[in-house]
Amino acid sequence: MKSVVILISGRGSNMRSLVEAALPGRIAAVVANRPDAQGLEYARGRGIATEVVDHKAFATRDAFDAALGAAIDRHSAQLVALAGFMRVLGAAFVRRYEGRLLNIHPSLLPAFPGLHTHERALAAGVKIHGATVHFVTPELDHGPIVVQAAVPVLAGDDAETLAARVLRQEHVIYPRAVRWFLEGRLAIENGVVRVAGGGAQLEFAAA
Ligand code: GAR
Repeated sequence: MKSVVILISGRGSNMRSLVEAALPGRIAAVVANRPDAQGLEYARGRGIATEVVDHKAFATRDAFDAALGAAIDRHSAQLVALAGFMRVLGAAFVRRYEGRLLNIHPSLLPAFPGLHTHERALAAGVKIHGATVHFVTPELDHGPIVVQAAVPVLAGDDAETLAARVLRQEHVIYPRAVRWFLEGRLAIENGVVRVAGGGAQLEFAAA
């Protein structure tokens, strides 16, 4: 059975959605870069191994990345899933896990890479927003798209209401993408992800 290491920085609701999805694989460990990441408590309560690699303890990104890689490799997982992991990873780290490193980002990439996506979507006046699960490449918040969820931006939305609408869909599409990976159904052709046997790579959620 394949196994997954999940990386978090905080609340961990996406991690929780993966744990509770009854995936065809084992959650080998949850690793956080902050000792106070709330999601750690949930993981411990579920009997999942946890590790903290505190980025503040390392002088350089390379040193942090090396320690993070060592923590991941202790659990010999086939997949590393970033779930609200808020540290930028160096190119060497990303290459080491290339093809088996997934991320969920709270926007319809390639729109709004980086931080504060909901505020920026509102400021831009877009009418559709959403979330993306993608393979991680060295360029931040780029990389082959596995699945996206689109939600409407409604009159009267603020960053919190919009974030909550997007987050509900994140919890739908991330378990779906991880399931496809664990089933060995994802292939990348010229930067585009295909799902063997078909599968909905787009969710469109009404309000
Ligand atoms: C989620 O919305 C996730 O998409 C986002 O942080 C939130 C974490 O929530 N990730 C990023 O912004 C990555 N750049 P969670 O801890 O409850 O899963």
